[in-house]
Amino acid sequence: MEIPVIDLSPYLEFSAKFRVDCDPISIEGEVYPQLERLSSEVSQILKETGALLVKDPRCSTIDNDRFLDMMETYFEKSPEFKRLQERPNLRYQVGVMPEGIEVPRSLVDEEMKQRIRRIPKEFQPTIPVGPDPKWRYMWRVGPRPLNTRFQELNSEPVVPEGFPEWIENMDSWGSKMISAIEAVAEMAAIGFGLPKDAFTSLMKMGPHLLAPTGSDLERYGHVGTVFSGYHYDLNFLTIHCRSRFPGLSIWLRNGKKVEVKVPVGCLLIQAGKEMEWLTGGECLAGMHEVVVTNRTIDAIELAQKQNQSLWRVSSTLFAHIASDAVLKPLGHFADSPLADKYPPIYAGEYVKLELAVIKPQRGEKTVII
Ligand SMILES: [Fe+2]
Repeated sequence: MEIPVIDLSPYLEFSAKFRVDCDPISIEGEVYPQLERLSSEVSQILKETGALLVKDPRCSTIDNDRFLDMMETYFEKSPEFKRLQERPNLRYQVGVMPEGIEVPRSLVDEEMKQRIRRIPKEFQPTIPVGPDPKWRYMWRVGPRPLNTRFQELNSEPVVPEGFPEWIENMDSWGSKMISAIEAVAEMAAIGFGLPKDAFTSLMKMGPHLLAPTGSDLERYGHVGTVFSGYHYDLNFLTIHCRSRFPGLSIWLRNGKKVEVKVPVGCLLIQAGKEMEWLTGGECLAGMHEVVVTNRTIDAIELAQKQNQSLWRVSSTLFAHIASDAVLKPLGHFADSPLADKYPPIYAGEYVKLELAVIKPQRGEKTVII
């Protein structure tokens, strides 16, 4: 199944033309069926696939390439250099997280293991044998709250030495990706029958993280290597630009596994657990994994011939609900029969519980929520 591509241009043009607080579907009695259709398409695709491919004219291929080039240069540095940017005491929420730290939920969560066993053989994920062998850099994007109950999630950024363009590149690419997410979040809210700003108002001051991952294909480029074990994202919406190496697979709501092909110039968006919470389970967090496949091997061989980097960089950005906002089913979703599964909880508290599972600190007991 191909995931359809949604062009955000008509929605963005419309938003630029009218006041930001306007209902984009109906202005002064005039109805805009094209936008209404687009918005319901966005919510429907998110519900069925947990993912969405979008085209946003503000996120150009040139920007994407500049960002990927810089991150390849960074990940190619020695582990000793990269570890200078490591902040384990802050649960790796800023700076670099080395390979071998993040534990895929499918390795520790018994309930998830049982669910995996029930998946038909052909769609079963590749079960990891240990922590993910991927590096990741965490860079906060956007303003942070002055007062918060969750200081640890809103810590100062770390800049590696020798990268004068780092701050500019990270901030500019990060804010462009956030803008794309905001447009999608507004359209999804409209499509789900909620006010346009139902999600975006909760995202303000959120601990959004630009978190590019780096996977060393020279060392680990063998079919079946799990770079990111079967899991869901704990945040609200995740966005990535096109990676230079394939490998990402997602599970649709109907249980089928699909290898994602992101067309050139497109961005991939995935629904996370905070989205699931706010919609009372109407839109489930999308399950996914990154595993070396035959297509990855083809891309490795091509990169070798062209003398290009063998680090697979994914320019992931995790958009979050503000730590001090309460996660609970919004609007009509509060009446859903599944609403009880999603009791009110501060988003920051929820994130802390999830992190304790996938990045347990020394001496800390793993907690499954
Ligand atoms: Fe993920």
